[in-house]
Amino acid sequence: MQPVNRTVMDSRMEAVTMTYDIGTLSTSQLTQTQPRETISKGVTKINSWNEWDPLKHVIVGRADGAVVQAPEIAVQRDWPEHGFPRGSYGPMPQHMVDAANEQLDNLAAILQKRGVRVDRPAPLDFSQTVMTPDWVQESMFGCMPPRDVLLVIGNEILEATMSFRSRWFEYLCYRPLVEHYFAEDRDMKWEAAPKPRLTERSYKPGFWEEYGSLPIDERLNKVRQNDLLLTETEPLFDAADISRFGKDLFVQLSMVTNRSGVKWLRKHFPDHRIHEVIFDEDGPFHIDATWVPLRPGLVLHNGERTASPELIKFFHKNDWDVIEGAQPTRNKENLPALCFCSQWLSMNMLSLDPNTVFVEQSETAQMELLYHLGFEVIPVPFWDVAPFGGGLHCSTIDLLREGGLEDYFPARCGIF
Ligand code: ARG
Repeated sequence: MQPVNRTVMDSRMEAVTMTYDIGTLSTSQLTQTQPRETISKGVTKINSWNEWDPLKHVIVGRADGAVVQAPEIAVQRDWPEHGFPRGSYGPMPQHMVDAANEQLDNLAAILQKRGVRVDRPAPLDFSQTVMTPDWVQESMFGCMPPRDVLLVIGNEILEATMSFRSRWFEYLCYRPLVEHYFAEDRDMKWEAAPKPRLTERSYKPGFWEEYGSLPIDERLNKVRQNDLLLTETEPLFDAADISRFGKDLFVQLSMVTNRSGVKWLRKHFPDHRIHEVIFDEDGPFHIDATWVPLRPGLVLHNGERTASPELIKFFHKNDWDVIEGAQPTRNKENLPALCFCSQWLSMNMLSLDPNTVFVEQSETAQMELLYHLGFEVIPVPFWDVAPFGGGLHCSTIDLLREGGLEDYFPARCGIF
């Protein structure tokens, strides 16, 4: 087979030519590896407007083939004590993959016992080099967590732009499922946000070096002003920065979601009220361990990531309780190896219905709080999944929840 030459921009924006000999790629790099997708039997109907209505059909992610991704402008891992010093990359250790898959399979089985249909994505060879006309990226990432990639609003499945090059092609893991739903459900809408270019212009030069050297209060100032990693060159968002409350969608500006992304979402969902939100957190990255609705009138907030007084006022004005989530069981020092999420995955819960929540089984304070608030709690072991990118909410995408589009915020207040 012919070698392929690709000219790309390197990190100093100089054109370099890289040569790939397709003939040397193993067949597993050219085709999909096992296992393939798993699709449950049943009549498919896509419908989900919020995070709490009774759940009937869901996607649960898989840890197969996940990698510590190759360095890119947006993210550089540095875990020397766990075998991945800065600059290195490669497959997650197999025993960790197995442990995570066991917990993911267990979650899938519990959901099924509760009458929920469960589908699973098709992993790719995530260790392969991927490229577009603008760049080459030495690895992909994984098909955990699905929540980041697909957004379900009513009967629509929307593929998010994503903002890491290593995650650019991740939607492909879900395509066999989405194609199946599209064929089965005549009312389903299938949409994809504009694929981003992700050239150097999409990121602020030298952002991480500078940010890492700043004291916490200066970092928080940057967060408050949304002076973060991404430029506004093109719309960028991860689906997990969006929290769905019926007619109101709250979108967190973060390291992976920019204002232009919010603007795109506003135009795309003209019948929704789309609110840009910022919390006091120095590494904002997905809203689902920060601002977590559990039923109409009740949202949990993260005490270490304060919401703005205006946001809280808006919720109060509409008769919502804003309750602080309980202290997590873990802390920064005893997170699992290779984990880039925080101990606040304790708040990353999945609702089975407005009275029933899945909670990580060691998070006893969170469970107490939920009992106290009148919920049935289903404990699930899940910390082995954390190094793959998230907790119970991150690891799932709800496709069908009973119930329709409702307005839970009839009263306007300030900017909201
Ligand atoms: N950034 C959050 C934290 O570390 C984790 C949220 C992950 N969510 C997700 N959908 N991947 O606290």
